[in-house]
Amino acid sequence: MISTKQILDIQRGAVVATIRRIHTQSTGNAVRRKWPVRSGRRETPVYAKLPRAPKNASPVPDLTSLYHKSDPGNYGSRRYPGNCSGNLIKDLFRYFRPRNVLDPMTGSGTCRDVCRELRIPHFSVDLKCGFDACDPANYPAEKFDFVWIHPPYWRQKVYSQDPRDLSTTPTLDAFLKRYELLVRNCALALGPGGRLAVLMGDYSDRDAGYVPLTWHTKRLAFEVGLRQCCTDIVRFSHGASSSRKVYRSSFIPGLHDTCMIFAKNE
Ligand SMILES: C[S@@+](CC[C@H](N)C(=O)[O-])C[C@H]1O[C@@H](n2cnc3c(N)ncnc32)[C@H](O)[C@@H]1O
Repeated sequence: MISTKQILDIQRGAVVATIRRIHTQSTGNAVRRKWPVRSGRRETPVYAKLPRAPKNASPVPDLTSLYHKSDPGNYGSRRYPGNCSGNLIKDLFRYFRPRNVLDPMTGSGTCRDVCRELRIPHFSVDLKCGFDACDPANYPAEKFDFVWIHPPYWRQKVYSQDPRDLSTTPTLDAFLKRYELLVRNCALALGPGGRLAVLMGDYSDRDAGYVPLTWHTKRLAFEVGLRQCCTDIVRFSHGASSSRKVYRSSFIPGLHDTCMIFAKNE
């Protein structure tokens, strides 16, 4: 039984194909475009065999360095640009069991919703409600067991016109200066032994080239005295909007971002 969504997808695919055909006929050329277009084609998923994880005393045995789950859970809003998996945050909280959480870039409220479900006291804010996470004066005096941040991957997605927004910084240097303030403020907000989890992806564009933002994240965290306390968690980017686009250029697609967890000394 074919669903309405499948019918719409097939129709959308046919429309894209027709537009391409008309354009090709009228210009006599293959379609030349500078921007990526959305592919109307429905792809069948590719299944890969994951390595077997060793048995251990973890309270969340499913949580490994490969976060492959495609269900983000019902947290935040999937329509919000850069919305991330609430289930990943939930697994981290079930593992680390924080008593309170700071969530200074909450976006659509994914981390906030997980905290509500698990009844963890939290402080969830965003630039959209006037909280600039790069300004130390904004932070509460309270210290936190766990800080969750999912910052913009520089200008990959632009969140506002506000010059304080990390996604509006005009150069990589300007972004890294503000990113350093963010990481420093989060480290200061941690109590002894507290954890900072950062979800970040590398970024690439024609002007800047390949920017290893995950490497910069570690560099900045180490500079403010944090240490990495467990493996990187490679989160498979299920549902990323870029996965449905078609590009003219050739590149190796990045299909993940990385969650890095740092600890403050006791
Ligand atoms: C990747 S999104 C977070 C999305 C969130 N994880 C979710 O699932 O909805 C990054 C967020 O950082 C916020 N942001 C950017 N610069 C900021 C700043 N200086 N202070 C606080 N929030 C900022 C943006 O408004 C945006 O909501």
